[in-house]
Amino acid sequence: MDDAWICGRLGEDEPWALGAVNPPIFENSLFTFAGMAELGEAIRNEDERYVYWRGTNPTVDLAQRKLAALERAERAKCFASGMGAISATISSLVSAGDHVLVLGAVYGPTTQFLRYLEKFGVTHTHVADLGACDSAVKENTRLLYFESPSYMRYEIFDIPAVARWAAGRGLVTVMDNTWSTPIFQKPLTMGVDLVVHSLSKYAGGHSDLVGGVVAGPSRLIRPLALTEYQLYGAAMSPHDAAKVIRGLRTLPVRMAAHQERGLAVAAFLEGHPAVRRVNHPGLPSHPGHRVAKGQMSGFSSLFSFELDTESREEVAAVVDELRHFRVGVSWGGFESLVNAPALSVEESVRATMGVPVGLVRLSVGLEPAATLIEDLAGALARVA
Ligand SMILES: Cc1ncc(COP(=O)(O)O)c(C=O)c1O
Repeated sequence: MDDAWICGRLGEDEPWALGAVNPPIFENSLFTFAGMAELGEAIRNEDERYVYWRGTNPTVDLAQRKLAALERAERAKCFASGMGAISATISSLVSAGDHVLVLGAVYGPTTQFLRYLEKFGVTHTHVADLGACDSAVKENTRLLYFESPSYMRYEIFDIPAVARWAAGRGLVTVMDNTWSTPIFQKPLTMGVDLVVHSLSKYAGGHSDLVGGVVAGPSRLIRPLALTEYQLYGAAMSPHDAAKVIRGLRTLPVRMAAHQERGLAVAAFLEGHPAVRRVNHPGLPSHPGHRVAKGQMSGFSSLFSFELDTESREEVAAVVDELRHFRVGVSWGGFESLVNAPALSVEESVRATMGVPVGLVRLSVGLEPAATLIEDLAGALARVA
């Protein structure tokens, strides 16, 4: 089954869809049954049977089936946010006394959640590369968590090598694949156990949705769906699932457009005298480019560059001068966004984040590359 079919048609030719080009949205909090025996049977299998919105819903299920198929997973479970998926997934895999290994830079709130778990006796260690894992792994390590490309610096990890290393030590691997989307990278086919996503980025694509998903084998998804999904209550709503389904319809086309625009903008920045470096794994100069080409079929358009300055004022002057890039958090939508993370935190916090003052993050949207390059050229003239 190819990705285009999965995105546009999978699960949509059911009799209940009545041939509608967009499937109906099931907006109901509960389902009713012929009798108590049938209800009891459904409750015992609530991860798969429709009982109550907080557990399952047919529209959410359709989004889940498509996302599972895109990730080549047996099953997927959608959540009300990416963090809902990440916190439920990690919680389902660890118990008091366990240890988590975190490889490379990961999304800030993911680290915050691991810190939060310390009060329940779960500890974690951050390591910079696979070579450092051997000395950091412990008797009680259960889980290896990572992103590739990594957060903010977009470093590449050799996914099959990471998965092999973890499997050899009996660890479960969880990878955040939000950056690439399943269109450009399929970690489960490279040995990763579970993939998590924020659907709020490229998958939704229109900056009108917050959602998340975890995908993987039934043996790991079923317990999570019956326990953490039900108890944390971060269920995806059917309307949000309909937005995911809509987003997937255009995802392959949007990703191709994001890739083309992102690479054009990154190449322009790389040649600019005011720019010290560009962190985009699609550039041949990126240290992880060769490995990336081997495990990804394309590159999204979220990357960072470093201005050749230590002055917060100069960085702010460049960012504030931009007209097409709007200042904001999040990424992956139709609109181009800019953020200079060092400027929104205290200097002491920035130092612990490992982010240089001049680091500027761009989410290149769907505007023409030439327009965005012109915008950047004008703003960079402020420091050139
Ligand atoms: C890489 C990554 N993973 C996960 C998340 C969390 O997703 P959400 O905001 O949907 O909870 C984000 C959000 O920015 C992210 O950038």
